[in-house]
Amino acid sequence: MKAYKANILFTPEPERFEMLEHGYVVVGDDGCVVGTFAELPEQYKDVPVTDFGDQLLMPAMNDLHVHAPQYRNLGIAMDQELLPWLNTYTFPEETKYRDLQYAERMYRRFVRDLWKLGTMRAAIFATIHPEASCLLADLLHEAGMGGMIGLVGMDRNCPETLRNTTEEVIEGTRRVMARTATMPLVSAIVTPRFVPSCTPEMLTALGQLANEYHLPVQSHLSENQSEIEWVKELEPESTCYGDAYRRYGLFGQTPTLMAHCCYTAGEEFELMRANHVFAVHCPTSNCNLGSGIAPIRRFMNAGIPVALGSDVSAGSGFSIFRAIHYTLQMSKMKWVHGGHREMFLSLSEAFWLATKSGGSFFGKVGSFEPGYAFDALVVDDSDLNFDNYSLQHRLERYIYLGDDRQLTHRFCQGKEIAQPRIKEN
Ligand code: GUN
Ligand code: FE
Repeated sequence: MKAYKANILFTPEPERFEMLEHGYVVVGDDGCVVGTFAELPEQYKDVPVTDFGDQLLMPAMNDLHVHAPQYRNLGIAMDQELLPWLNTYTFPEETKYRDLQYAERMYRRFVRDLWKLGTMRAAIFATIHPEASCLLADLLHEAGMGGMIGLVGMDRNCPETLRNTTEEVIEGTRRVMARTATMPLVSAIVTPRFVPSCTPEMLTALGQLANEYHLPVQSHLSENQSEIEWVKELEPESTCYGDAYRRYGLFGQTPTLMAHCCYTAGEEFELMRANHVFAVHCPTSNCNLGSGIAPIRRFMNAGIPVALGSDVSAGSGFSIFRAIHYTLQMSKMKWVHGGHREMFLSLSEAFWLATKSGGSFFGKVGSFEPGYAFDALVVDDSDLNFDNYSLQHRLERYIYLGDDRQLTHRFCQGKEIAQPRIKEN
């Protein structure tokens, strides 16, 4: 057992922060929280205490939608909307991952950058390439971080050099399952890229695989108007875009993440609610590709689970703190343009999305309540805290003004995570 002493903040519920000034978190040998305490209880008096002084201690970030093979395109190529952006910049870059050396160089940096910005668990799209996808799983596991790796299925409307067959996507996903079978924090996720990229045959097989092994599913949904129109043409029998996944067993029959959902309403909204499908909000991406503003307040009011994603490289950075910041700003734009009907999000709600709500996809992750994995960040905000701010204001200033320079320690499942090594070239 171990104990950590610091200024503790977390969100057991969306509406409020639990805060303990110079409090203690006791962590068991299984890497899970035993409890948080204002004073160390008598029964733990022999437990070794690490004192982080006046620093902040909070749950680590969870990124529920990110594309590892788009690493090289980070911060460039934002002059197109989704469909031309995919064809012009994204598909050509992803074809490079058949080269394992290139994949290693980029994927090492990818894992290092997740670590750097305080993301300890992520739901990741890889590419169609099994070797590179297994390598990505190895690198995340070696780093001690957690997540799900999706070997991407795509067999139509994309370059010949970036297609797999139905047999290949099933075989490739099975290889990722086998590779991660002994990794405690890394696992496989069924990943049809999105309906326009997958034939009904491929969607059918992926749905069967997910349901047979009870594997989770991730994909994209209702990101942009042209994409939605295209799906109507490609899947005329579906009543909405979401129904096109549901028909193949890929919409909540097993735990499911759908990125974006900017235009989800009506029947699709009801399907997400009934099937407990996660809406993964990717606000920086939705700004960069001019996609739209997802109705996050409406999802939350309806009980549709919501998480945050960076969506690198349509999203322009790895920081989920930045995603919190953009979530708050975009919810205010939605509020003002929607006639002030749906209230914008509060700081604690946006923080909860990034921690406990997103973390729930990985199990008991994202809070410091007893039994939760101790995934944590230590933040030295002394340079931002020059005039006795309250704890909540210190966190708020860190979210709006801070970056990786203030992160002094990162923990995943109770273990301190060292900086993953990159490869120079
Ligand atoms: N839809 C299908 N593929 C992608 C992708 O790589 N990024 C985003 N933002 N949307 C997609
Ligand atoms: Fe995406």
